[in-house]
Amino acid sequence: MRTQVGIIGAGPAGLMLSHLLHLQGIDSIIIENRSREEIEGTIRAGLLEQCTVDLMKSTGVAQRMMREGHFHEGIELRFKGKGHRIDIHELTGKKVTVYAQHEVIKDLVQARLDADGTIIFSVHDTSLHDLETTQPTMRFKREETGEQEEIICDYIAGCDGFHGPSRPAIPETVRKEYQKKYPFGWLGILAEAPPSSPELIYANHERGFALVSTRSPEIQRLYLQVDQNDKIENWSDERIWEELQLRLASHDGFKLIEGPIIQKNIVSMRSFVCDPMQYERLFLAGDAAHIVPPTGAKGLNLAMADVQVLAHALGEFYRERNPGFLQNYSDTCLRRVWKAERFSSYMTTMLHRHDEHTPFEQQIQLAELDYVTSSRASSTSLAENYAGLPVECPKDWIKKLETPLLKN
Ligand code: PHB
Repeated sequence: MRTQVGIIGAGPAGLMLSHLLHLQGIDSIIIENRSREEIEGTIRAGLLEQCTVDLMKSTGVAQRMMREGHFHEGIELRFKGKGHRIDIHELTGKKVTVYAQHEVIKDLVQARLDADGTIIFSVHDTSLHDLETTQPTMRFKREETGEQEEIICDYIAGCDGFHGPSRPAIPETVRKEYQKKYPFGWLGILAEAPPSSPELIYANHERGFALVSTRSPEIQRLYLQVDQNDKIENWSDERIWEELQLRLASHDGFKLIEGPIIQKNIVSMRSFVCDPMQYERLFLAGDAAHIVPPTGAKGLNLAMADVQVLAHALGEFYRERNPGFLQNYSDTCLRRVWKAERFSSYMTTMLHRHDEHTPFEQQIQLAELDYVTSSRASSTSLAENYAGLPVECPKDWIKKLETPLLKN
């Protein structure tokens, strides 16, 4: 088989890249090691920055999100038992949207299949070859046949997450990896309960961090900071609610609404960056290149920003034979990635309990929260980063394409 851009991974990055390439008349094939059911059913975070929403809207994949997503104009930071609202819309003119990642995936898979795009699911033994040549290839085995197949490409996009084969295909002498592991994780639950709050609540408490998010009018998403080695078996539903009630208690009449817990899991937290994000004809995008702790809600949005930059760069190459944007891909993405890493690390440090903190450091943390919620300059900085920094792509490049495919 042959394609222009071979894409490894049908997560948000791979699917959106394939969609953006299609809109420019560039051919791609996606290979994915999980099944369609698996990728459409895996519960992940779900907060979209304004530019992710705008990208989905301008490329015709936002209809369901506009109907079912929740548009939030602010968030609450809660500490010392009191809530403080950051008015993101007033401070930045932007909003954020709660719409789960697997819903974004369903919409993108549907868009690709409706446009006769090729996604090969459930492949295994994926490997990358000949990256230094003009014909890099992806090899894999199909579940049904078990036979090895090969796709010859012009370029390969590694959108295969932190554990995928793409990043290791960059020689160790070429890549530098930056990493920080946190000594805590998040226990996340889905509960059948109506919303306790119209907006997200990020709570700092001496017992640990808690977050109130949402999924739908009937299903709520909540998180608790737990020790990195904690096991989900240690957390009965009663214990989870008890802990959430303690950490979210406030003096201003807030009531946490409980309901049956329908799903619970623990995720570890890390910050990670691979530099460069490109090697010869391989381009990494999304979690394959970088990981952020979920406190800043940046993971999915960074992936979408990467592929916007990449799709534009590939378009410039195929349309104008201009390789400049492709050559700058890594530098362009990493500038924004590092700012999102900084913000995610800042939010994580400010909001979590740190066992190693001295009483002095605990007071500094509270002063930071007091400052960010009382100074307009500091709240604006938080709001600007939370709502999302601009993607370095020429403004309105999608609208300017004038491809007939975009007209409908
Ligand atoms: C979520 O709804 O899953 C969510 C929201 C905000 C975050 C992290 C996760 O910062």
